[in-house]
Amino acid sequence: MTEHRKLDFRTLHYAGEEGRLIPVLQKAQEEDGYISRERLQSISRETGVPVAQVYGVATFYSQFRLRPVGKNIVRVCHGTACHVQGAKGITEAVEDQLGVHTGETTADRQFTVEMVSCLGCCSLAPVIMIGNDTYGNLKPADIKKIVKRYKDAGAEAVKK
Ligand code: FES
Repeated sequence: MTEHRKLDFRTLHYAGEEGRLIPVLQKAQEEDGYISRERLQSISRETGVPVAQVYGVATFYSQFRLRPVGKNIVRVCHGTACHVQGAKGITEAVEDQLGVHTGETTADRQFTVEMVSCLGCCSLAPVIMIGNDTYGNLKPADIKKIVKRYKDAGAEAVKK
């Protein structure tokens, strides 16, 4: 089991247990990429907050991930502008190229596909982001080439 650095909860100045848990959960996610069941339990032990309550906070906020994610997070926008401009077709193309459904991670842990409600660049609809890279004015046919770049980069990293 992974050894986790002890967190000093006395230094957290937030009101209430939820406020106290959020930075702890953020730190855990920052360290592990997601919040595992074991980590939820250790946070519960260290804070004295029942595990069901820790779980409740972790599932309430969309910023927290309870499953491992891929190296590249593919965010497909389904906000109004993107929806109108064909987000459904973009989603299908992404899922088709990666062989997973939205919310899933590829077996090689290279990609996780997420649905988001707005990426803040509606004039470029339909839009996706891969990591910090934004792609707009997309057509489903564009997705193959875009995804290939990241697949190739991943393959290069494996070779090194
Ligand atoms: S609705 Fe897609 S970027 Fe805003």
